[in-house]
Amino acid sequence: MLPTIAWDGDVIVMVDQRKLPTREIYVRCKTGNDVAKAITTMVIRGAPAIGVAAAMGLALGAARSAATGTRQFAVDFQKLADTLAATRPTAVNLFWAIERMKQALAAGVRAGEGVPELRARLRAEADAIHDADVESCRAIGRHGQALVADGARVLTHCNAGALATAGYGTALGVVRGAVDAGKRVTVMADETRPFLQGARLTAWELVKDGIPTTVITDNMAAAMMAAGHVDLVVVGADRIAANGDAANKIGTYGLAIVAAAHQVPFYVAAPWSTIDLATPSGAQIPIEERNTKEVTHLAGTQVTPDGAAIRNPAFDVTPARYITAIVTERGVLRPPFDTALATAAS
Ligand code: MRU
Repeated sequence: MLPTIAWDGDVIVMVDQRKLPTREIYVRCKTGNDVAKAITTMVIRGAPAIGVAAAMGLALGAARSAATGTRQFAVDFQKLADTLAATRPTAVNLFWAIERMKQALAAGVRAGEGVPELRARLRAEADAIHDADVESCRAIGRHGQALVADGARVLTHCNAGALATAGYGTALGVVRGAVDAGKRVTVMADETRPFLQGARLTAWELVKDGIPTTVITDNMAAAMMAAGHVDLVVVGADRIAANGDAANKIGTYGLAIVAAAHQVPFYVAAPWSTIDLATPSGAQIPIEERNTKEVTHLAGTQVTPDGAAIRNPAFDVTPARYITAIVTERGVLRPPFDTALATAAS
């Protein structure tokens, strides 16, 4: 299992995803604010992983809080929760995890617990969130593998793998589920400009696992489908609205349209923590705009002229009508997604 994020005593350790695939370096977070910085700077990324990191960060902050009374302890907790919530706006898993930690604290306060018990409760809740994420990914793999035939050629975008979760992955969980079921699967990984999560992270994970992988630049996907080299597309998601619209890494929407044009099934794999039934459609999902330097520079070299305006939205929204099925730990959901999601929620 790849080491995305783990405790080392009372320190949180995470592999620095900015340095992969050429260097495997680990960042040690000693405070909750260190974790917030790690999320903001993309040391750790991927919707489920940043939710897990936020939960663990809150547990770490609780362990470090100098408060002796529960009132100050709760004030410290809330301050760190606000800092973590401000790191990245699109992936709902972050807010989901923070809310779960808040509920855990509230339950402890209601039970009359003191600071040591509250610390222990928050640590246990963060560990439960971490472990449940791995379990969800494995269940996504078990359900999703039924969609993957022996010999299938899978196209994926960005990194929805072990590195984007507490382990195993969502889109790559489906791939791993198929491989674990004894099927031969090959993967085509979009490089995923501008941050190159596909080229750097997806390919690194799959090569490490011995799963045959071909990296293509994003603009090659349509030609690959037209040439009949792709049997299905599987991607992850950062937030799925109540109607099934799915926000994911920029470029996913275009890929979905191209897949529809070539009658290639387009699957979205995500844990239930990515489902946001409080958001009616994709139109209400906040899209993160990231630093323009990610676009203007490639490996430190400027590739655009000074004076050109730059845009860098990190995510787009794929309308539900382009999605063949949504794979969650609760099963494979088919359209109409508003009904399927509501039913699976109850
Ligand atoms: O900006 P990132 O790298 O955090 O974006 C990640 C993605 O868009 C993933 O596809 C998504 O979070 C699903 S991860 C299981």
